[in-house]
Amino acid sequence: MKLMVLNGPNLNRLGKREPHIYGHKTLEQIMNSLESIARESGCEIDARQSNHEGELIDWIHEAAEGYSGLILNAGAYTHYSYAIRDALAGVDIPAIEVHLSNIYARESFRHTSVISEVTIGQISGFGNIGYELALKGLLHYLKGEEN
Ligand code: DQA
Repeated sequence: MKLMVLNGPNLNRLGKREPHIYGHKTLEQIMNSLESIARESGCEIDARQSNHEGELIDWIHEAAEGYSGLILNAGAYTHYSYAIRDALAGVDIPAIEVHLSNIYARESFRHTSVISEVTIGQISGFGNIGYELALKGLLHYLKGEEN
């Protein structure tokens, strides 16, 4: 089973970027550890990062062909990108939304996610292990054990 993990704008700077909010680990470290956890669960992850909305949209379309599910931290696009929302709505694979920080405990513009409605769930505020929680939730969902 192949899963796509997408990280949006500014997440390439994890480790350096506002570490009091986003932690000290780099995206590479977080994705490497996610990859080994995925392998133990018998699945493969394809982790990508882009600072560009269109590239993320192209990858969501690509995920629909040959991937079983999607984990997405859309960064600030979460709060206003109807184009990313429409891309998720238009593909037939389940997606989970991840945020390292608790977006509801921060500035008011972060309290809205325009993509939540088209995902199976959201994980927010657990730092880097949010990706592992999303992986666990996605596998659970894909195995039909969601209830
Ligand atoms: C984020 C939260 C967003 O509000 C912010 O723009 C990010 C990161 C998070 O992981 O906590 O870039 O998605």
